[in-house]
Amino acid sequence: MAENEVVETSEAQIAVHWKEEAYYYPSTEFIAQANMTDKSIYERMSLDNFPNCFKEYADLLDWYEYWDEILDTSDAPCYKWFKGGKINASYNCIDRHLAKNKNKTAIHFVPEPLQEGYAHITYQELYVRVNEFAALLRDFAGLKRGDCVTLHMPMIPELPITMLACARLGVIHSQVFGGFSGTACADRIVDSGSRILITADAYYRSGTLLDHKQNADVAVEHATKDGQVVDKVLVWQRYPGKYSAKTPMVDGRDFFVNDVLKDYYGARVEPEKMNSEDPLFLMYTSGTTGKPKGCQHGTGGYLAYVTGTSKYVQDIQPEDVYWCMADIGWITGHSYIVYGPLANCASTVMYEGVPTYPDPGRSWRIAQDLDVNIFHTAPTAIRALRKLGPDEPAKYNYHFKHMTTVGEPIEPEVWKWYHKEVGKGEAIIVDTWWQTETGGFLCSTLPAITPMKPGSAGPGMPGIHPIIYDDVGDVLPQGAGKAGNICIQNPWPGMFMTIWGDRDRFVDTYFTRYCKDPNSKDWRDWPYLTGDAAVEAQDGYFRILGRIDDVINVSGHRLGTKEIESAALVVPEVAEAAVVPVVHDIKGKEPDLYIALKPGFEASEELAKTINDTICEEIGKIAKPRKVWIVKDMPKTRSGKIMRRVLGAISNKTDVGNVMTLANPEIVEEIKQMVQR
Ligand code: PRX
Repeated sequence: MAENEVVETSEAQIAVHWKEEAYYYPSTEFIAQANMTDKSIYERMSLDNFPNCFKEYADLLDWYEYWDEILDTSDAPCYKWFKGGKINASYNCIDRHLAKNKNKTAIHFVPEPLQEGYAHITYQELYVRVNEFAALLRDFAGLKRGDCVTLHMPMIPELPITMLACARLGVIHSQVFGGFSGTACADRIVDSGSRILITADAYYRSGTLLDHKQNADVAVEHATKDGQVVDKVLVWQRYPGKYSAKTPMVDGRDFFVNDVLKDYYGARVEPEKMNSEDPLFLMYTSGTTGKPKGCQHGTGGYLAYVTGTSKYVQDIQPEDVYWCMADIGWITGHSYIVYGPLANCASTVMYEGVPTYPDPGRSWRIAQDLDVNIFHTAPTAIRALRKLGPDEPAKYNYHFKHMTTVGEPIEPEVWKWYHKEVGKGEAIIVDTWWQTETGGFLCSTLPAITPMKPGSAGPGMPGIHPIIYDDVGDVLPQGAGKAGNICIQNPWPGMFMTIWGDRDRFVDTYFTRYCKDPNSKDWRDWPYLTGDAAVEAQDGYFRILGRIDDVINVSGHRLGTKEIESAALVVPEVAEAAVVPVVHDIKGKEPDLYIALKPGFEASEELAKTINDTICEEIGKIAKPRKVWIVKDMPKTRSGKIMRRVLGAISNKTDVGNVMTLANPEIVEEIKQMVQR
């Protein structure tokens, strides 16, 4: 029963349930130009042909030394892909394109302020800037192959430049989402053991130039307290040559990159020949406990997977202008703004700011100006654009051939608006389901091959074989009409290799639940638990319902409820904290925070505000609760467990069910009065 109580509060249970929709088909024009039109790809990449089928993806890359073993399972479930191969990600994203495409735009940068023009960085310029900065990282910052460095950067071109410079040296980058607080950044500095922090002085958000440098000071201070000394803070300037933050620079610790770079003019750095399985980067993500986990992605496997999926699912052609409106601080940006598109020699758009700033037509003006024809975003942004400017897309002269939705379930109504208004009825849509851990797409339609179905991500990607288990480990067959725990039967090149420094947690969190034999070296015994609930329709399409664990998906970003609860407990008056997801019409979900105080303290507006502010300081504004409810007591079982299910029902105004078995049933009505007033 206790376990069930937890499961019942999950997103999956609160998720909307919609009916099966009719298919939509791609146009003949789309099919005629697509990169992948051969239906036999599903057969070629069937389980029978696993793992050799992934050679196709590896062959999209340039290897210094070709690999000799496609998949090494000797340390299952920590796998090595393309073993024996030597490769460099920076070389594959830049150098190899120069001979034919040095003059092509690699990155179109769109600053948020309207008066600042677009910047277009060619592959040649990217090559020069990455090399010079790599030389600085090596010679000035003393970074070398295998070191880890933390980046806390906003959406400016210097972010991908920094990532690619690290990759060139074999330095593992760990980019922390720019909107996270200094404290959250510190936790990641400590966990990754970084002694260099790379940041920027400022960036624009909704028309304001924010002082970002202040977060670096907080991060370094907290990291030092926790035992990780940061020797140098490298500060990129939003406006080169000018300092745009008020926070003073610390002598001997903080350096303006643009000043130091002058010493590296013309420097060129030979890319390191990395082993295929050497880590390329860490990406921290929320889990079921308070501590974020560093997902460690490898080099050869990851790059092969994002290159292949960018080519076949994003369907990028040489003359396309591709805009993924995500933040590079999340996995979507790493895989589908930076590594995947650049490895394919695409022109990728980066936008600094808010999609609806200064008005809801902004995104479509950018699309019109740059003649963007592939667009990639999350349901949260689509809902916001739909709410604020439902008729805006029609006012602008752009034409998308292809659109992506990613990060959360998309309601069929919203999908249809996206298709009809944003895509002007012309664009195909791929609903890509995947995770930080998985490096690239798990389920999606193939745009020219499998028809779309609103509200469904689609079948497993070629080479990805999902399976749905019930709670006792029986397989739910296609069309069973029941939700279960979606797992992937086989490993794939893009999957993370481990949790940084915590192999046991990696195995426990993702594999133990359905593992058939913990000593097995056979991948068949280690289904990967995604942590999502899903249903599989008769046609093999998967509809993702949401998380089965204590993770909330807010605006397409993952937040651990435990992470928010731990942040609230930092406030001395707080005795207990419980976070539950509440349905929100734009963000998908929002956290609602319930607090019980220690004896002798009184609830007050100020205290609620302090708790709220503390969460923003500890994690970032993204984790800000809808409301802080200070209650007299938490509804509890007789064994003292907080009944989050009941709190979730109250917040969402749904049925609280039978509460008579609780230790304190009377509190339920009291809380209901307070919240549902
Ligand atoms: O619950 C699923 C949801 O987002 C989670 C992964 O979040 P994160 O690691 O932050 O990565 C987001 C970008 C890949 C998943 O466990 N999710 C992601 N894509 C979809 C989705 N839910 C439904 N439909 C999707 N297309």
